[in-house]
Amino acid sequence: MKKFYTTTAIDYVNGAPHIGHAYEKILTDVIKRHFSQRTDDAYMLTGTDEHGIKIQKTSQEKGIEPKAFCDMNAQKFIDAWKLLDIDYSQFIRTTDDYHKKTVQKIFKKLVEKGDIYKHSYKGLYCSGCEAFLSEKDLDEDGCCPNHKKKPEIVEEENYFFKLTKYKDAIISHIKQNPNFIVPAFRANEVLNQLENIEDISVSRVKNNVSWGIPVLDDDNQVIYVWIDALSNYITALGYDSENPSDKFKKYWPADVQVIGKDILKFHSIYWIAILMALELPLPKHILAHGWITIDETKMSKSLGNVVSPSSVMEAFDMKEPDALRYYMATAAPIGKDGNYSDNDFKEKVNAHLANSMGNLLNRTLSMLVKYFDGEIKEEFIVNSELFEDCKKTIEEVKHHFNYFEVAEASQKIVELVDKTNKYVTDNTPWTLAKEEKMTQCGEVLYTVLEIMCVVASLIYPYCPNIAQKMAKQLKYDINTKLDDIKTNNIKVGKLISKEEIVPVFLRLDSELADKGKK
Ligand code: MSP
Repeated sequence: MKKFYTTTAIDYVNGAPHIGHAYEKILTDVIKRHFSQRTDDAYMLTGTDEHGIKIQKTSQEKGIEPKAFCDMNAQKFIDAWKLLDIDYSQFIRTTDDYHKKTVQKIFKKLVEKGDIYKHSYKGLYCSGCEAFLSEKDLDEDGCCPNHKKKPEIVEEENYFFKLTKYKDAIISHIKQNPNFIVPAFRANEVLNQLENIEDISVSRVKNNVSWGIPVLDDDNQVIYVWIDALSNYITALGYDSENPSDKFKKYWPADVQVIGKDILKFHSIYWIAILMALELPLPKHILAHGWITIDETKMSKSLGNVVSPSSVMEAFDMKEPDALRYYMATAAPIGKDGNYSDNDFKEKVNAHLANSMGNLLNRTLSMLVKYFDGEIKEEFIVNSELFEDCKKTIEEVKHHFNYFEVAEASQKIVELVDKTNKYVTDNTPWTLAKEEKMTQCGEVLYTVLEIMCVVASLIYPYCPNIAQKMAKQLKYDINTKLDDIKTNNIKVGKLISKEEIVPVFLRLDSELADKGKK
């Protein structure tokens, strides 16, 4: 595999980032970092979605020019992803000039092709979804089921996209590629939606929606926010139908596009139809993740339970985001809903990262210093049966990531750590030392340290800072590709001194969050 291109949904900037947005970016970053251990070049795109009626209205309410409002809020997302060590390769804003120009060209191309046509239309528009809804989409009160608001009646002459032209091709693509939509159980949902699709309105009259990209040669119309937003995945790479950039040629099609389950229809139907109309290859996978709740309740401003990643980090006095990354990335099997609660967070990361993994390394290095002055001797080097477990775990983790099963993959790492802890308990190196069986004692310590190199590599996508601290103490190259990992990383000679031993993860203080810091 030469390259790996992954994208996230781009977030609306009418609010600040919360833990639901963070979940998706962490998940994608973990996937990207894992594949960077398997490919020459992994590229991750994220960004913000800045046009449309919702942002126009929110900025008006705040009395701020829309662009200034977007600048202010886009920065909050950039800051949040920095805090969480999201290692994206590119951040796109739909107000970026290059993006706007390419979207106009894409629109023009589809008009010229006859896939976009003008048509008078009356429909029900939900500004929360930024989409027209049909009567049967509404709940019993006539409201949008997602936003609990009555949609507006909109009557306009708009441009329409011939979605129906691509219906059969999309259906057969989904049926012929059972792994195209991940998790597979969502494919049926999409196939059902496809049964009833109609052509969609892809522009709005400027008088009604002014905050958007104007249609070229028709100044009275503004391009529909979803056409603008979805195109980001290719405009970011420098797509141009006449003269595509090298970056576009290198990275497109995407290997996986990560989105929330609520916007699957836009990605597996609208986006795919646009790509078909542009005669471009389709992404290999669309990964629809589940929803994150707070204490089992849907996050909402009115309930006042919106949790931001920075508030969690402050509440627990966290200097590094690894624990939150680990917790979020493993919050749910892929596609299923997950939950955040302070207590569960604290307990899980203390158990997995501090007690099991961190302590294991810390105790082992401390014993190496205590009994051998930090030195690995020739006679300690053995070929342990546990090294077979390491190889097996690497393969299992890779296998899970092939299906983007991020939480399931982490479980395999936890199992390897548990098994190694059991090996230490069974072999009691401290008793061996007491009985002066020093070679045996050294063999046990060496075996554990060798396994910890593998653990450092495997945990790296989830916890990059912890992994680097582990690697530093093990004198292990954390940039080793997964296929190049051997179990002879620990070399004969002095490995570490007492002063160099540092805990890789400090337990989260149970009191902090309860003291109302959050
Ligand atoms: N702007 C559109 C996406 C355009 S992509 C071309 C949008 N923005 S959003 O800000 O509402 O959501 C951004 C992403 O965050 C979506 O994938 C959405 O599913 C995800 N999440 C928003 N709230 C979430 C949770 N509570 N839990 C998990 N993911 C959530 O939709």
